Amino acid sequence: MTSISSALPARAAPAARVIVRHSVLVRVCHWVNAVCFVVLLMSGLQIFNASPLLTWGQTTNFQKPFFSLSAREDDSGNPTAGVTTIFGHAFDTTGVLGASRGDDGDLEERGFPSWATLPSYQDLAMGRRWHFFFAWILVLNGLLYFANLILSRHISALWPSLADLRAIPHAVADHLRLRFPSGDEALRYNVLQKLAYLSVVIAFPVLILAGLTMSPAVDAAFPWLLTLFHGRQAARAVHFLLAAYLVLFVIVHLVMVVLSGPINNMRSMITGRYRIKEVQR
Ligand code: HEM
Repeated sequence: MTSISSALPARAAPAARVIVRHSVLVRVCHWVNAVCFVVLLMSGLQIFNASPLLTWGQTTNFQKPFFSLSAREDDSGNPTAGVTTIFGHAFDTTGVLGASRGDDGDLEERGFPSWATLPSYQDLAMGRRWHFFFAWILVLNGLLYFANLILSRHISALWPSLADLRAIPHAVADHLRLRFPSGDEALRYNVLQKLAYLSVVIAFPVLILAGLTMSPAVDAAFPWLLTLFHGRQAARAVHFLLAAYLVLFVIVHLVMVVLSGPINNMRSMITGRYRIKEVQR
């Protein structure tokens, strides 16, 4: 099966040709990963809600988190506002972060709102079950993807060359004008795609290692993990920040998929077939 790194014309046509853009394995891994990502994100937010703050370092200073979600309360202890605090700066995020409406319509203290967590109601044990089950699927899927990355040299499709790096300003200008590659240029990822996809391929293993570092049993077997991440709280912060980076990536990823031809892009990630417009001379 050919993939984006070795795309071959499958059908000739005067103004367009169809190539096989993604191998079966890349497609299957991509969609398994996408499902796992959604479940892991939502169950992760459920777990985070049990202690909605982040601190750094070997010794935990819960009095001075660098990020926290909390609620302001009136004299009788009812939440009146949601507050997000980042490096000491407080922002009113009522309704979304810190305090949001419950089933009864009343404001309740909650880190992330019920629509963002799995399960929607506060249940740490259930959240952990979803999280750990899908984390192992993600790990197995990731191992398969990485084996393919090396064995079939798919890595060359993601690794930017020096010429690619020099073309970054040009690629940014093209993207800002919503001009996307056509002809032979569309046979491979552009430099911005390469950098974005490569960053994701690097972020996932670090995120998983940081997740494992939060487990006392894993730390007992591999104590160097605690040294590597500078403590369990720092590992939790790295895990959270990388997840936030992936959320940002997915938002931009989906916007780009839509702007650069949603049907063609989606078909290429489902059936492999991708239509390339020839450059008009
Ligand atoms: C419903 C959600 C998603 C949709 C519709 C979607 C769609 C796509 C499409 C159409 C491509 C091919 C782009 C091209 O050929 O130019 C692609 C590639 C890719 N997507 Fe997604 N994606 C989704 C979610 C995700 C998520 C959650 C991640 C990771 C966090 C992800 C990471 C990637 C990566 C790394 C590639 C490149 C794959 C490779 O060549 O190895 N995607 N996606």
